[in-house]
Amino acid sequence: MSNTHTGLNGKVVLITGGSRGIGAQTARAFATEGAKVCVVGRDEDALDAVVTDISGAGGTCIAAVADVTDSAALEEARRRVESRLGPVDVLAAFAGGQGRPIPSVDLTEERWRQVIDSDLTSVFLTIRTFLPGMLERGNGSVITMSSAAGRQPSQANLAYGVANAGVVMLTRQLANEVGPRGIRVNCIAPSSILTEKVKANMPDDVRAKVAAAHPLGRLGTPDDVAQTALFLASDAAAWLTGITIDVAGGRVTH
Ligand SMILES: NC(=O)c1ccc[n+]([C@@H]2O[C@H](COP(=O)([O-])OP(=O)(O)OC[C@H]3O[C@@H](n4cnc5c(N)ncnc54)[C@H](OP(=O)(O)O)[C@@H]3O)[C@@H](O)[C@H]2O)c1
Repeated sequence: MSNTHTGLNGKVVLITGGSRGIGAQTARAFATEGAKVCVVGRDEDALDAVVTDISGAGGTCIAAVADVTDSAALEEARRRVESRLGPVDVLAAFAGGQGRPIPSVDLTEERWRQVIDSDLTSVFLTIRTFLPGMLERGNGSVITMSSAAGRQPSQANLAYGVANAGVVMLTRQLANEVGPRGIRVNCIAPSSILTEKVKANMPDDVRAKVAAAHPLGRLGTPDDVAQTALFLASDAAAWLTGITIDVAGGRVTH
């Protein structure tokens, strides 16, 4: 399991949200490149399934159970990955996904705070946990996860749109700050990715309409996002930082 062209062979990659969906597929993609992967999430069984899957295919993968809104849990995950695999070279802060539509008039203060915590503060906390080590070593690649909902108004709830727009700015400002110290920070903003959860919840007629709303005529796949993450982490993207890639089938309006 290795491809020397990407420069990812032997790299340590930590992926939050690695227990399912986009994050799990990203973990598989990095492992296929020969990277040593740590998947982070709250669901231990789901994490174990990803570890078994990747290990069974000959890759290196461990799991760390952590809620990404909890700094102490993230710190524990950092200790675990460093002791088992070594310092993290590539950090993919992908956990989140509280986009369920809610009319703004019904969006309670409590829900607003939950969504901001889950989809924006978590990205800051995750990066804050791993950045000191990257700064010390003078290299690293951070990939953040935004959403099409953070790029233009959408059906998602207001807090999710604002949180994801915040992730784009977090990426730009941090890239500016840590670029001179050898660290790149880039962002992915997907639209309508057909994960297991989306498959289970989106009726066929809605799926057809959503597909038709994208110039490329289909929904995205978790692998569309995973391949973008590979590129951003690879040597091929060595001159890229502070950017957001819209993995959106051409549905880009800004
Ligand atoms: N699917 C799409 O169309 C789409 C589009 C744009 C952006 N995104 C973004 O892509 C990311 C992944 O989404 P997905 O579609 O793959 O969703 P998913 O299948 O629901 O997976 C969400 C992942 O995030 C983890 N997670 C969520 N909150 C967490 C928390 N507080 N602590 C630790 N882990 C947490 C979950 O882990 P556990 O369940 O193990 O806790 C799970 O691994 C999200 O940030 C989402 O906003 C998705």
